[in-house]
Amino acid sequence: MALNLDESYVKQFVCDEEISNSTHLIKAAHEALHNKTGPGADFLGWLNLPSELKSTEIDRIEAAAEKIKSNSEVLVVIGIGGSYLGPRAVIEALKSSMHNIFQADGGLQIFYVGNSISSTHLNNVLKICANKSFSINVISKSGTTTEPALAFRFFKNLLEKKVGKEEAKSRIFCTTDSSKGKLKELADENGYEQFVIPDDVGGRFSVLTAVGLLPIAAAGLNIRQLLDGAKQASFDFNEFDLKTNYCYRYAAIRNILLKKNKKSEMLVSFEPELLMFNEWFKQLFGESEGKNDAGILPTSAIFSTDLHSLGQYIQDGSKILFETFIKIKKSSCELFIEQDETNFDGLNYLSNQNVSCVNEMAFKGTVLAHSTGGVPCIVLEIEELNEFNLGYLIYFFEKACAISGYMLGVNPFNQPGVEAYKNNMFALLKKPGYEELTKKLIEKI
Ligand code: PA5
Repeated sequence: MALNLDESYVKQFVCDEEISNSTHLIKAAHEALHNKTGPGADFLGWLNLPSELKSTEIDRIEAAAEKIKSNSEVLVVIGIGGSYLGPRAVIEALKSSMHNIFQADGGLQIFYVGNSISSTHLNNVLKICANKSFSINVISKSGTTTEPALAFRFFKNLLEKKVGKEEAKSRIFCTTDSSKGKLKELADENGYEQFVIPDDVGGRFSVLTAVGLLPIAAAGLNIRQLLDGAKQASFDFNEFDLKTNYCYRYAAIRNILLKKNKKSEMLVSFEPELLMFNEWFKQLFGESEGKNDAGILPTSAIFSTDLHSLGQYIQDGSKILFETFIKIKKSSCELFIEQDETNFDGLNYLSNQNVSCVNEMAFKGTVLAHSTGGVPCIVLEIEELNEFNLGYLIYFFEKACAISGYMLGVNPFNQPGVEAYKNNMFALLKKPGYEELTKKLIEKI
């Protein structure tokens, strides 16, 4: 198995008997998921996606990625939420968050827009692209989300000005619904190359569709290995067995901890390149579980960085959280600490040690301190960061999230709460059709 669940630092908070007692809940969730009888059953396409994705579709994604790499210095990825976080999480985990700076390998620079409404950020990326050859991958399942639509308008105009309308058409790639939405209409009208987000795959479960795969392939990563990892996880976590199915055990443990008033889960790693993976995780669990006044609040941290900011609260503050550590056993590079004749910094006791060994001791010291201080720590171990293991981890969390959601009694596949801010924003911007709400809001402000 590409992942190990180490329960050593959570045992004192959740015993085996409690896990066994949740068997019936897990079994019901497993059956609802696999028999497609639970809420949101129309959105289970992600469950078998790694095995069912057509090889012709993978070929087409790879061909588009090659084309982008061959004629562009920059790829602008436009999308928000589930149409943004997955590809960025994978690219930054495997290529480094600084890959845009490492231009020595002639690599494509990737910028993400349409994930906020900041004119400053938009303008900064527009300025970069004004002097570069670029392509656009605009991603929106609904095809109507304001943030990406707004950004697309700017970048489409810039591209058309730079290379002309005809050439621009061959540099715009749309990932959207198969039949509906403004983006689909526009793509049809202009003949942009299109990739489909399947109807039965929701945004936050879509990283292993073209949503994630096209930008990931353009970044030079091996999407077949990513899918293979996810496929392996789908086999490994397919059977209902609470002893060996770590995905289900993890789901059980987090729900037991919630009942013990641990209302927040902090996803932690000692690897800064996982920062965006943390963001992907937060959306996955936050949007899936946060309903009906229920759910565990997903938070995240990168250690040891945040041990110097949040560490105090975690150790001594209110005992409302548990931590889930992603532990990467083998670092992607070896960096040894040299002996210094003067020992000016007093660090000679670390001479000839690998920096990753120091990081390892920081990890051990932290789980010991936190768990003894009353914070349950779940540890998920993977051997190293590569495409296969990341695909495996993605599927692990997706399935754990679905099972956890069903255990909680919510529909993990909808997001009704996201509409509230949008309606207010449209009314305040006086979008046609929102006149009644505009009147009400104006009275309030
Ligand atoms: O998970 C979700 O469904 C959301 O986060 C969406 O991905 C996000 O709102 C973007 O939607 P769309 O792809 O329709 O632009």
